[in-house]
This record gives sequence, C-alpha cells and structure tokens, in this order.
Amino acid sequence: MRQKIVAGNWKMNKNLDEAKELIKGIKKEVKAGIEKGTRVMIAPSFVNLQSAVKKTQKSIIEVAAQNMHQSKNGAFTGEVSADMLINLGVNIVILGHSERREYFGETDALLAQKVDAALGNGLEVVFCFGELLEDRKSENHFKVVENQLKKALFHLQKGSFANIILAYEPVWAIGTGETASPEQAQEMHAFVRELFAKEYGKDTADTISILYGGSVKPANAKEIFSKPDVDGGLIGGAALKAEDFAAIIKSI
Ligand code: 13P
Repeated sequence: MRQKIVAGNWKMNKNLDEAKELIKGIKKEVKAGIEKGTRVMIAPSFVNLQSAVKKTQKSIIEVAAQNMHQSKNGAFTGEVSADMLINLGVNIVILGHSERREYFGETDALLAQKVDAALGNGLEVVFCFGELLEDRKSENHFKVVENQLKKALFHLQKGSFANIILAYEPVWAIGTGETASPEQAQEMHAFVRELFAKEYGKDTADTISILYGGSVKPANAKEIFSKPDVDGGLIGGAALKAEDFAAIIKSI
C-alpha cells in the first residue's frame, strides 16, 4: 500500500548515550501528534539497534538498519546478516545508499543480492538510488536511475514490491544543503512510477511508496511532500535533532 513515511538515517552518528537521548526526544515530539497513518522510522548504527528496539517498543517509531551483508552467515569479519537483524527485532533495512555505493564499492549486482537476502528473511527494504551531479549535468539522470532500478530490482516478482520502499536520493543533494527542487523531485518520482507501471503494471506503480532524500529540512519539507508522487522523506542531518525531525514528520 502507498504509505506516508518519514525515515531518519543517522549514518555514523550518535553513540549509545546520544542515541538514547535522541530517541527520548523524538518520542516526546511524536506523542504531541502526527497525522494518523504516517510511518516514522529511525536507522541508528548497528551497535545501537538493540537499544533502539527496546526504547521504541511502546511507540510508533520503527527501527531500521542502514545496511546488511548478502550472505546467510559465515566468515565475513565485521559484517551483519539479515537473520541477526530479524532476531534483534529489526524488520527494515536500508540498502543501496549512495554512501555505500561510493565508499564501499556496492554495485547494482551486489545490491540485487542484498535485496534478495533481505526479502528472503522477511525484512522490508528501503531501496536508495539516485544520480551524481555529473549525470544530471549531462542530462543522463533518468537513464542512470532507470539502470540502477532495473539492475537491482527488476529481477523480482511483482509481489515482492509490497515489501519495498523506494528512496530517490540525488547524490548532489545529500549533505550539501542543496535540495532538488520540489519540481525536480516530482519529475523523477513520476518517471520512476511510470517505469514500474511499464514493468509491473499500474497497480504496483500506484501502491509503491517513493521517498525523497537530500537536504530535507523543516523549512523545505512541506513543499517537497506536497508533490503528488512524493510519499515522504529519507532524512539525514535533520534527523539528528528531535525537534527538526518532528517538524519534518509534521510537514507531511
Ligand atoms: P541529508 O538529509 O543530510 O542531505 O542526507 C540525506 C540522506 O543521505 C539520507 O539517507
């Protein structure tokens, strides 16, 4: 079902004490009232997931991981499996973030494997994609996005998309203070929905949620969220302050 979602990607920020403090702040803020039906997610680092699950138990806040390994288990020093997440009570994982692609060499082919492993273990996936600045400048952004989606997701059966949330994050807008204009976001989201309509049918296209990410702040969230094909946001920097994150949630 197409849902309204605001997710905070904490990246490599917040130690355990700080994470607990931030969750406390978000809980207080969201209690004060958010529009019914909006899903609120936070993605702390692996080491703080267990505590986050415990601290959010009686709230609407859902906990997501920022990554996972594609293998079931084995000799992969430093990695975390889907089963480990599920066993902790984490039911959502972010995959394909541009920072994973850029700094850790994650390719579309690898992401296809990670998506399969996540879905196979019953995790819901927030799948990120988006073009580089040079792609936009050379007007290749639609082609780049189409390729990312085709290579990592289009091997899936239609039914799998009930457990996938898409997140368009143009790389040039991440952490730069430069946001895609609401029109640019809408244009890409509509393009992606059309791709899904062609590949999987209008029902799938109409029910998949597409989030926008890249310098979303309380000041610009409302306008971005007002666009018809934008179903919510994946928030980085502004998710690290309870008041800002709450203000963004309330903008939807
Ligand atoms: P910023 O909101 O800090 O630009 O980060 C966006 C992002 O990468 C969320 O995953």
